[in-house]
Amino acid sequence: MQNSIMKNNLYRFCLIALASILLISCSAKKTYIVKSPGQNNELIFNLTQSGQPQYRFSSNGKSVIEPSLLGFEFEGIRKMTEGFEVVATEINTADTVWEQPWGEFKKIRDHHNELIIHLKDGEGRLVDIIFRVFDDGLGFRYSFPKQPNLDKVKISNEITQFTFPFDNDVWSIPVHSDNSYYESFYKKTPMSQTDTINTPATFETKNNLFVAIHEANLTDFASMTLLKLPNNQYKSELVPWADGVKVYAQAPFDTPWRTVIVGKTPGDLVTSTLMLNLNEPSRIKDISWIAPSKYIGIWWGMHLEKYTWGQGDKHGATTKNTKEYLDFAADNGLDGVLVEGWNQGWDGDWTADGTAFSFVKPYPDFDLDEISKYAAMKNVRLIGHHETAGAAKHYESQLDDAFKLYNKMGVNTVKTGYVNKYLDKKEWHDSQYGVRHYRKVIETAAKYHIMIDNHEPVKGTGLQRTYPNFMTQEGGRGQEYNAWSADGGNTPAHTVTLPFTRMLSGPMDYTPGNFDFDYKTAAGAKVLTTLAHQLALYVVLFSPLQMASDLPENYVGKPEFKFIKEVPCIWSDTKVLDSKIGEYTTIVRKDWDGQNWYLGSITNQDARKLKVSLSFLDSGKSYKAEVYADGDGADYKTNPYPVSRSSKTVNSTTILDIHLAAGGGTAIKFTPIP
Ligand code: NOJ
Repeated sequence: MQNSIMKNNLYRFCLIALASILLISCSAKKTYIVKSPGQNNELIFNLTQSGQPQYRFSSNGKSVIEPSLLGFEFEGIRKMTEGFEVVATEINTADTVWEQPWGEFKKIRDHHNELIIHLKDGEGRLVDIIFRVFDDGLGFRYSFPKQPNLDKVKISNEITQFTFPFDNDVWSIPVHSDNSYYESFYKKTPMSQTDTINTPATFETKNNLFVAIHEANLTDFASMTLLKLPNNQYKSELVPWADGVKVYAQAPFDTPWRTVIVGKTPGDLVTSTLMLNLNEPSRIKDISWIAPSKYIGIWWGMHLEKYTWGQGDKHGATTKNTKEYLDFAADNGLDGVLVEGWNQGWDGDWTADGTAFSFVKPYPDFDLDEISKYAAMKNVRLIGHHETAGAAKHYESQLDDAFKLYNKMGVNTVKTGYVNKYLDKKEWHDSQYGVRHYRKVIETAAKYHIMIDNHEPVKGTGLQRTYPNFMTQEGGRGQEYNAWSADGGNTPAHTVTLPFTRMLSGPMDYTPGNFDFDYKTAAGAKVLTTLAHQLALYVVLFSPLQMASDLPENYVGKPEFKFIKEVPCIWSDTKVLDSKIGEYTTIVRKDWDGQNWYLGSITNQDARKLKVSLSFLDSGKSYKAEVYADGDGADYKTNPYPVSRSSKTVNSTTILDIHLAAGGGTAIKFTPIP
């Protein structure tokens, strides 16, 4: 980790005019064509008769995006959507390899061809549209240069369109209707049956492609959602401030990248690195303090109502209880203990108003000094917790003091939370207001060498490249729904959908690892998977901070806990094997630091048999495969517990038979045999 700063191994950036790599034709109709380096993807840009910027995109000759308009509207000044002329163009190519400090891949190649269109409208106002065409898709952004005729603007509408050739099926979640932080089930419907949807939105197209629309590098801007229009079309719908303005900006400014990832299989979307490539290199020079980790927490107990966050007989975050958790972590080689409910402000209905929270004053039965010393002695980190209930300004007023205190106490990771429909009672989490707040927290945390795990966030757009202390987020229905959700909990199909939807926006703190299925809560919700499925989630759902979420006592004496102790949480390589969104998936990943591979395979409510080729293993080597599979009679509804553990010798020519129970899974560790 220490030395693995992001660095360019190879950098090549040059102006080219070679038709073989990049083709531009400037006909009377002003059509500009850019192909991806592998020639498979093609972007076409032109101006319409009335000077409207328009693009279209295809993959291996198959239309992905039909002609779609580009532009912006503003409050109080004329819109910039038509009457444009092309002033100049630039063509660039880049081929760079950079190294991640942590992730699903150690090295990432950024290989793209770029077309910059410099536009001027009838009022002499300037905007550049920058297209980057990769072999795995397209990114484009608007760049407003400093200029005499455009200064401060209030963006009222982005008209970027995504017009599809067909009424494709789309996996999506609605915007703000269930809740404000993406905690909905992804549903597959024809596009025509959706309203406004969030990104990432994943399309299964009628011409057999998998396409994801999302954005990259969401900086000082509003999130893009997708408004459904007639004729197979979505348009960017920016999340507004409470006053209706979408974005306050001043030239020069850049928009986030709008991204279109394209693949032949669902797995192609998962292994695309386009979003990360469209973010900027790390701004944090010394990253020696940034480390992936596995943690337990005084957490599930609150969700099960065994403990409370607030004071009283059942207060979870006591000195005694925390020490016991620290003992358990130390005894089991886990790195951290999350403690929620340690600070003043939880008594009463904390979700209604977060202004009572202090981020520096512990409850009297939580001796922060003593606990920090105990944690240091045990060589376990405390993981801090800042629940704000959406009171963002109040939190910001304590931000420096709060991180300073944690830093002094040896806390190097903080989980943040924003349980409220709005920030500061009126602004959306995913508005420019929210985007600014979350960024401030990440930047301030970096100053105090603190990593962030952000719950109730704005969606991920790859910022972890620029701020590698921004480890993970929630932003999806996590395991907690299996405690208190009135709908009974996360369906088995949910975890088989997340890799191809929510996970395209970055790591998720899903908090897997449930071992006890016999708990009872008032809502009657349940973990609707088998135990083996819970193990497989450590491989399937990427997060550089992974929680073992169950109560420590539920791990005691369980042989399956060995897998959780051993499984890494960062990977040097990742491959997605045969998968069907919402039905089943098998993902294999190679340990960041070693030669071991791990496999996670999960299914929805249907039992199934899979044949899995181990061709990803090094050829010519033998491996010991330690298999944790659904045991006899396993079924998520009736008997989630049976796990059959076995060991066998395999190599890259082996075809494994994997039997998944209903709601089941298989987790495997492959170790090379010397
Ligand atoms: C919601 C978070 O997602 C959950 O993990 C946390 O326990 C509660 N908020 C309290 O902060």
